Amino acid sequence: MGDWTVRHVRARAPGRVNLIGEHTDYNDGFVLPMAIDFATTVDATARDDRLLTIASDHYSDVVVALDLDALPQGPTGGWADCPRGMVLELQRDGAIFPGADLRIASAVPLGAGLSSSAALEIATGLAMLALAGARVDRIALAKVAQRAENEQMGTRSGIMDPYVCAKARSGEALLLDTRALTDRAVQFPHGVQILICNTMVQRKLASGQYNLRRESCERAVEILHRRFPAVAALREVTLEQLEAAREQLDPVDYRRCRHVITEDARTLETAEALSAGRLHDVGRAMNASHASLRDDYEVSCEQLDVMVELARSCDGVYGARMTGGGFGGCAIALVPRSAIAEVEATVRAGFARAFGVVPDLYRTSAAGGAEVLSE
Ligand code: GLA
Repeated sequence: MGDWTVRHVRARAPGRVNLIGEHTDYNDGFVLPMAIDFATTVDATARDDRLLTIASDHYSDVVVALDLDALPQGPTGGWADCPRGMVLELQRDGAIFPGADLRIASAVPLGAGLSSSAALEIATGLAMLALAGARVDRIALAKVAQRAENEQMGTRSGIMDPYVCAKARSGEALLLDTRALTDRAVQFPHGVQILICNTMVQRKLASGQYNLRRESCERAVEILHRRFPAVAALREVTLEQLEAAREQLDPVDYRRCRHVITEDARTLETAEALSAGRLHDVGRAMNASHASLRDDYEVSCEQLDVMVELARSCDGVYGARMTGGGFGGCAIALVPRSAIAEVEATVRAGFARAFGVVPDLYRTSAAGGAEVLSE
């Protein structure tokens, strides 16, 4: 060892919001996320003894030290699972690293559904690969991050979060086809902004409930496939087919499918509407998405429902919905720039009145994706 030429790397990767297309990514469907103005930074310094140490600004007194030749496998529930899992999965793909000291600084709110974990995985991956002098393919990196999430953290999440984190471009949302793994840039219009409204409800039960939703979809696809052999995922199921198979489906699974099928259609419509500047149509689709997530997919909660109602009650707001996996976390509202301060005041006061908690609110533009800042 000792022949690693790059000794220090700083990489940063942003969190994300999803404009629409929720719980569609593990059904081979479409999503429309964008990166946000909050990012995680990973400083990686090479060391030559095959040790990986991980320190985070959030846990100032704890440094995790691990042997790169014997990294623990599977979820441990600790905060370092995410970077440790990423390094482990990269090694499984053949990457050869020197040892490294990792220092993490995150401005992405944790546990708020803004993909702080994808940001950490992608920033870790970029930094480690740069240390190793390896070529980076952004889509491959996103897949590794998804695997780290699935296998090392125990959430069977889809590709959306790491993909947008790795590939976003400033000023654009990405219409991502999660089956083909191709994307189309959708210009985010001037004059409007996304206001992120944090319910402050941490997504505690999220991964168990999330995996259950996924199982519902898989169960239904098995039944639908028997009836319509061309069906491999909910992506290609029409509402007519779903109706035709209704009697065979568990009633709850049926509603889960109805959400996914209608959400896919809304996502494609929203991408068109956003490109054409038809913001009222975008807002309507966001509102319908929230209703479907609340009633059919049942991943909202009271705080999210109240938050979106408060945002929608403000003059000028085009639409609002929960964003991300649900069960707490954040809602987003599409707001004219000129109205944003007023919307913030109304939402803050209304939410505090309803729940006795002052919500964090963040304005964001469509930010750029992950990058290596210095080598
Ligand atoms: C989480 C997952 C994503 C996606 C969303 C719901 O953010 O990480 O893969 O499934 O939930 O759309």
